[in-house]
This record gives sequence, C-alpha cells and structure tokens, in this order.
Amino acid sequence: MSKLIITGGKQLEGTITVSGAKNAVLPIIAASLLCAEPIRLEDAPDLLDVNIMNQVISALGAKVVRKGSTLEIQASSIDCIEAPYELVSQMRASIVTMGPVLARQGHVRISHPGGCAIGSRPINWHLKGLEALGADVRMDHGFLDVTAKELKGARIYLDYPSVGATENIMMAAVLAQGTTLIENAAQEPEIVDLATFINEMGGKVRGAGTSIIHIEGVQELHGTTHTVIPDRIEAGSYMLMAAATGGNVLVQNVIADHLKPLIAKMEESGIDISEEGDGIRVIGDGNYTAVDIKTQVHPGFPTDLQAPFMAFLTRAKGTGLITETVFENRFMHVDELKRMRAEIKIEGRSAVVQGIQRLNGAPVTATDLRAGAALILAALTAEGTSEIRGIQHIDRGYEKVEEKLSRIGGNIIRSE
Ligand code: EPZ
Repeated sequence: MSKLIITGGKQLEGTITVSGAKNAVLPIIAASLLCAEPIRLEDAPDLLDVNIMNQVISALGAKVVRKGSTLEIQASSIDCIEAPYELVSQMRASIVTMGPVLARQGHVRISHPGGCAIGSRPINWHLKGLEALGADVRMDHGFLDVTAKELKGARIYLDYPSVGATENIMMAAVLAQGTTLIENAAQEPEIVDLATFINEMGGKVRGAGTSIIHIEGVQELHGTTHTVIPDRIEAGSYMLMAAATGGNVLVQNVIADHLKPLIAKMEESGIDISEEGDGIRVIGDGNYTAVDIKTQVHPGFPTDLQAPFMAFLTRAKGTGLITETVFENRFMHVDELKRMRAEIKIEGRSAVVQGIQRLNGAPVTATDLRAGAALILAALTAEGTSEIRGIQHIDRGYEKVEEKLSRIGGNIIRSE
C-alpha cells in the first residue's frame, strides 16, 4: 500500500504550476461523445479520474490517445450504449456520459452510481432534467435504462444548482430539437468551460456562469481544439499550504477570478496575497487570525476547499467556525486531524476549530480526495514525520503532488 511520508517544518518557497482542472476536463471528455470529428484537449491533467473517464468513453466507442498533457479523442461512432459497471462504480462522475450518449444515440444504459465517502450523492435532478427533455428513465437490475426517440427543448428549473445535473442536461440539450432553458443552473467556472467547449464545436449555449443557461439545439457539431481552464481547487490547496508553512510561493497558471472567496478569506486571516502575471503570490508570516467559512455553491466558498482550509485554521490564532452546506458527510478529515493533535469539535453541519501552536506528525489515512489535501497541508506544518495512507484518493485530483511540492521545498516522498 503506497503512502506519502512527510516531515513538517519547512517553509515552502518557489514556484508551483497548477494543472488543468479535473472538474472541467471530466465533463468535457464526456461532451466529446457529442461529436464525430477529432477533438484535441490541451492541459488535460494526467489523473486517475481522467484516465477512468477516458476508459469509459473508449468502452462506448471513442478513440482516446494521450500525448503528454494533450488528449486526442474521436467518437466517430458510439458502438455501445452501456457504460461499464466496473468503471462507473469507481468514479461516479461517469454519470455525465448519460446526456451526450442519449443525445447521440437516443439510448443509454449506466449503472446507478452509488454514494461515496462524502455523501449519498443522488442523481434525481439529472434524471428529472432528462425526462423534461423527453427521455424515458427506467431502473433495470441496478442499471438506469434511458431512452428518447427524440429530445425536445424544454424549460427546466433545478431545485438546487447541481453541477452534474446542469452538465448532463446541457449536453443532452445541445442536439435536441428546439431551445432549452436551465433555470437555477450551477454557475461554477467548470460549467463555463464546458459551455465554451461545446460552442467551439458549433453548439449554441448562452448564459453559462449565470443561473439561467439557454441552449439552442443544433443538427451536428464539428471537431475543435480546446485548452482546459486551470484547476482552481488544486491552486487553492497549494495557496493554503504555502500560507500554512509561512512560506513565499508563486502559484502559477491561476485565474484569480475563480478564487475570489478563498482569496478574501485568506486576506481576512492576515495572509499577503497578490496577483503576479498568470499566477498568485502567497507570502505567509505564520501570524494568522482564525476566520469563519460557510461552503456554498459558486460564487460562494467552494466545498472542495473546506478540508484544506480547516487544516490551515489549525495554525491560526483563535477559533474558526466551518459550516458545510453542500455535502452531508464532509468532515471525515476531522478525526484524522485530531490524531495530529488538532482541536476540532463537530456540531451538526459545523466544525469549531481551535488554533494551536503546532500539530504533531502521525500516521493518518485520507478518506477522500480533499481530505487527502488537508492531511498533506497538516503534515507539512506538523512537528515530526507523518505517513499518509489512502493516497489513491489524492492521485484522483492532484497531479504529481509529491514532485510539485518537493520542488518548492516540501519534505515529501512517496513510498510504495
Ligand atoms: C461536482 O460534484 C464536483 N465533481 C465535486 O467535486 C464538487 O464538490 C461538487 O460539484 C460541488 O461543487 C465533479 O465536478 C466531477 P452537485 P457533483 O451535483 O456534480 C446533491 C471533488 O472533490 N444532489 O453540485 O456531484 C448532492 O448529493 C469533487 O473534486 C442531489 O441531491 O455535485 C450534493 O449534496 C467532490 N441530487 C449536492 O447536491 C442530484 O441530482 C451538490 O451536488 C444532484 C446532486
């Protein structure tokens, strides 16, 4: 079982480069199924989840070749309408292949994705949207069997601005007859990148990034080359690690506008943040004031940075209150941080974090992707050495993590 061995205490110094966004490239790879012509995706991060999505679309009939950080994809035809159970069960984000396969073939079968560590993760709003477009949804021995003789544009109001539901509905609507309106749509930057990609293929999506998205159906799409936006969650995780170690780091390849909530909270806590070219410089002096955060849909504070921010708060003076409103079970990193002597108390959907002088290194286990990032941050600041297990979770979303952190002074090695 491979693990990361980290000895804390070093201030991170230097430049760290952010990869393309996992949560943008996953739906974009799925959207490639809408088009029969060649697609090139630049800045596609080489991550476990991306490799699984590539396997899913290959199983459906697409050709996928990775050349460094470029993916060359061509779905000239979709020969299979069933996404393989063993792949979908590994990565629930595969569910966003439902919309494009339905749009292209009129039929899709995909196993109902289970929950995961952070929550039950239902897909009721995905299915409600597809039914509004004219699809018929049946459960068949654990598989969703979705058919649509013809998809017709509709006006769809989302009970909650779900990222995945917005993506699935948007992709299903691209080739539908007529116009679709998604109201109360998710506004995350990754939704905007997906819409940009669809429009580059000749689709007609307007309003992405706002709560009302307008999709005019077209007959067919053409090939294109698209550069994936930088990963704001990877960037934010490294910004917090730089601050927590009292370092001076330029986090390069960042769109500052995507990180406004984090930057505001880090500045409120007393960290020196400045934009520098296409990056953000973080200078920490180790004297931070605890602040409160509440996770919200975009443009609120992102739930994916909740765990790393909690680990950072263990280093701030005073008490910080963290409220998680997006997922029902996203505090599993608390027990692991407490093994490192963190003082955290969970009260319902909130956690009260008491800053302390220094954490202690310890053997800990990552329970999910962002909990893993929180444990890396904690270990980099702790006194002594930590061993982090469960790093397959970290490899899902942080490309070459030990390489990138070692390059800026982190004392971190991967041991098989
Ligand atoms: C996306 O998940 C991201 N994943 C998540 O990132 C991110 O945390 C989340 O959006 C919120 O920003 C990818 O993009 C691959 P949702 P998604 O649908 O689409 C409930 C990471 O660490 N819900 O906005 O699944 C759901 O259970 C991952 O990179 C329903 O009840 O998020 C959750 O409580 C973790 N019914 C809330 O809504 C539905 O039909 C938000 O889910 C859909 C969602």
